Amino acid sequence: MSNSLLLFFVNTHKESGENMALKRKDVLGLRTMNQQEIVEILNTAETMKYILQQNNKRTPHLQGKSIVNLFYENSTRTRLSFELASKYMSASSANISASSSSVSKGESLIDTCKTIERMGADVIVIRHPMSGAAHIVAKHVNVSIINAGDGMNEHPTQGLLDMFTIRENKGTIKGLKVAIIGDIYHSRVARSNIWGLSKMGAEVAVAGPSTLLPIELDKTGAKVCNSVEEAVDQADVVMVLRLQKERQQKGLLPSLREYSQIYGLNKERLKLAKENVLLMHPGPINRGIEITSDIADGIHSHIQEQVTNGVAIRMALLYLITRQRRKYDATVYQ
Ligand code: CP
Repeated sequence: MSNSLLLFFVNTHKESGENMALKRKDVLGLRTMNQQEIVEILNTAETMKYILQQNNKRTPHLQGKSIVNLFYENSTRTRLSFELASKYMSASSANISASSSSVSKGESLIDTCKTIERMGADVIVIRHPMSGAAHIVAKHVNVSIINAGDGMNEHPTQGLLDMFTIRENKGTIKGLKVAIIGDIYHSRVARSNIWGLSKMGAEVAVAGPSTLLPIELDKTGAKVCNSVEEAVDQADVVMVLRLQKERQQKGLLPSLREYSQIYGLNKERLKLAKENVLLMHPGPINRGIEITSDIADGIHSHIQEQVTNGVAIRMALLYLITRQRRKYDATVYQ
């Protein structure tokens, strides 16, 4: 079956029922996304993954659409997967980084996004070091905004690809024990996963240095464990976070050696989890700090699969969001 036909059938099925859930202009975080919306994105990503596995990955579904990736922080996985997702679906795409744009001359984030909007962009994918940056921009422009990571707040597309990877391997998310290990305080990946996984019915257990556990955790439904061993015990999924050396302030962290000894994931600690545990990491990995290389490359690791699933999720999001654009487009050029 051709890729166009495949998506046609998916849409016909969805549009004929009440399960057409994603009706938002922007994707800013999983805290404000409901279970029905998450399920629709994951279901659509299944079709996108099928397309990705074909010899011809091209679909016409974003033909005539323009996607701009505006990255104020470095990225390999997120930026490239959005760019490839756009190209696979026949959109025009462009990349801007802060250092090569008029941001370096003092232009504000809102003015930059209004400028991009006036050039006819349908979606701006934005990564910014300030928490809330994507939310602020979304209020000032008609173009759709997808948050590709805002400071320590959220990284919703990572949370979605992680949930997709879990569901694909385990068949469900509901009822699973998911351990999230490491620098929770600075991690937008942890926040998006905690919100998303809890909504999907998982039991989330977190562990890390007490200085790197945010106080608002008790509001999220996540269980705070006293040790990595307690969190990993009988876990179905173990998610290890990158130690964000660039965001650390003084006094929050023991030495890297001590961090690795007490909080790093290694073969012995992983043995405490269920036998068929899924080992995940959002990347990039600090090998030998938060995770040892033997398990990062071992039989339980799904880290490379997460990268592939990232493209499928971003294809799904671009497709679902641009489908909503018709009602916003009319106002753009007034
Ligand atoms: N996981 C993730 O966001 O990776 P990048 O920083 O490479 O995009």
